[in-house]
Amino acid sequence: MDKGCKFQVINHPLIRHKLTYIRNRLTGKKEFKELVDEVAMLMAFEITRDFPLVKTTVETPLMKADCEVMGDLQVVLVPILRAGIGMVDGIMRLIPSARVGHVGLFRDHDTLKPVTYYFKIPPLAENHQFILIDPMLATGGSAIEAVNLLKREGVKNIKFMCLIAAPEGVRAFCDAHPEIEVYAAALDEKLNDKAYILPGLGDAGDRLFGTV
Ligand code: PRP
Ligand code: URA
Repeated sequence: MDKGCKFQVINHPLIRHKLTYIRNRLTGKKEFKELVDEVAMLMAFEITRDFPLVKTTVETPLMKADCEVMGDLQVVLVPILRAGIGMVDGIMRLIPSARVGHVGLFRDHDTLKPVTYYFKIPPLAENHQFILIDPMLATGGSAIEAVNLLKREGVKNIKFMCLIAAPEGVRAFCDAHPEIEVYAAALDEKLNDKAYILPGLGDAGDRLFGTV
């Protein structure tokens, strides 16, 4: 990827293993959703690595201990509907205090441009960290537009996570929002003529919600 593009693949054996089953067309809806949640949770572990801590103390059964907690950082998960919803539960297991906003977008089948149909986020805290979530970064149109909408509302700190990214989407996203860190579980080969990611996993929303 180009220098200056804040894109990284989270490369971990557990993620690579689970992604194999996610990609497999024979994996059924229930297992697919469980695996998507598990990979999202594993990714969240890495994505939150730079979250700030504040010092505190607790009494253990033996003595006072100097400890740390995440403090007043407002973490907001923003799944892009529909498919982004499939990753939220896994991340919430790690960060149960996270709030959840929603951005409803779908790709117009003919133009491939994103069409917005819903937008709702919590009131912004000064000390916020938004994590935008979508399993697929294909042309990049949906993620770029979702960030445009968040920025328009005054959101300053955004990270974007996806399961599978196409090089075309990474390039477009980095051109549009070069300051935003993008995390993926895999960088695939390319898009096909219908802008599906190859080899990819198929249609993420259809596989999660059984609308195939
Ligand atoms: C899929 C996916 C992304 C988008 C990626 O959603 O979940 O939101 O396509 O493509 P892009 O990078 O080319 O914009 P889709 O539009 O199929 O909607 P759905 O989640 O409701 O199925
Ligand atoms: N959306 C999907 O669900 N899959 C793709 O491969 C591309 C966009």
